[in-house]
Amino acid sequence: MSSRDKKSWDASPDMPAGHFVSGDVYTDPDIYKDESEKVFAKAWRFACHDSELPEAFDYRVFEQDGQSLFAIRGEDGVIRSFLNVCSHRGAKLLDQPAGNAKLITCFYHRWTYDAHGHCAGIPRVSGYSGDVVSKETMGLREVRTETLHGLVFVTLDDAAPDLTSFVGKALDRFSEMLTGQPLEVFHYNRAVLDCNWKAWHETNMDLYHEFMHVVLRKTQVNAMPMKDRKLIVFKNGHGGSGGDMKAAYDGYKGFAGRGNDIPPLSGMAPTDFRFINLFPSTAIISRGTVVRIDTATPMGPDKTLLEMRGLGVMGEPEEHRRVRQRHHNQYWGPFGRNVPEDTIAAEACADSFRGHAGRYQIISRDEGLTGQDDAVLRAFYKEWALKTGRDPGQPVSS
Ligand code: FES
Ligand SMILES: [Fe+2]
Repeated sequence: MSSRDKKSWDASPDMPAGHFVSGDVYTDPDIYKDESEKVFAKAWRFACHDSELPEAFDYRVFEQDGQSLFAIRGEDGVIRSFLNVCSHRGAKLLDQPAGNAKLITCFYHRWTYDAHGHCAGIPRVSGYSGDVVSKETMGLREVRTETLHGLVFVTLDDAAPDLTSFVGKALDRFSEMLTGQPLEVFHYNRAVLDCNWKAWHETNMDLYHEFMHVVLRKTQVNAMPMKDRKLIVFKNGHGGSGGDMKAAYDGYKGFAGRGNDIPPLSGMAPTDFRFINLFPSTAIISRGTVVRIDTATPMGPDKTLLEMRGLGVMGEPEEHRRVRQRHHNQYWGPFGRNVPEDTIAAEACADSFRGHAGRYQIISRDEGLTGQDDAVLRAFYKEWALKTGRDPGQPVSS
């Protein structure tokens, strides 16, 4: 029961590979570069919910692998995505996070594009000799876009396998919830965190930190026996809850219990808690009446854009919406009892690894895919190792 000297502190934990992670995966610039090229340039990533583009020509700007992109709904109803870059001299085309544009006009020299990415106009095109610069040749760079259960995903990799084979069965238990009634985004929040993107995603994969949240200590940890809580891992690094966990909301002073005051989402009981983490950095979490979707986007080894969406039932009565917003916000809103604490935890680990004082993260809890098993974290890092060609447990700094 003694403290440890430097040699002991720096030594690899005496446990199987895959049960610990070097702190360098959160800080090292070469690892970050590998992640950019081998993970984010290739993965399917959640871009937005289709309810955010209800009308023809509605667009939504988002980031992927350090690049600005936008998704736009065509007059044919199809959502397509493009790099947010003009074909002429590379100016960023859309500056607002969302809007509606039948024609997208670059502010610099007024080239225009339509919602199919076709170049629609080049002022005084006759000044270009030959036919290299023409409306036919100067379209936008289209990015593969697929929608599954209302979730719009993109990949920068033209050769990536299609979305359904990437997702596999990971969203099967979410399909009824996501499609059993029309949903819409009623809450959008973004924050820049001083931590690596994985540190955020880990908070969504790690049930063991429930004890950190007073609200979860009161409402969730004792709501059902640990052994009856099931976790599941899927191919391609996805993982989450394997059955419904329960929450006893009235266990927290000031929270009302969740009865039948508003309809729960399709296929859910009001007290059900269900989550899935999609590799590399999307999480979908449902608390019976509401769904939250997180996307963690790297902005540097030590900086992460966190986007959070809350979804409820489209077109529901105002009084139902108010209750649903309360259910969302009491846990997940900017002043909720849960999410702000997660940001503190992610940044606290970053503080330690930034200066290499922290050396390893331990992810070795094994409860046979029940309780607070670390299996979902291990599945994530197994896929990360496969994609990056690196051993996440191996330090690269001294
Ligand atoms: S950079 Fe867009 S028109 Fe010139
Ligand atoms: Fe948390």
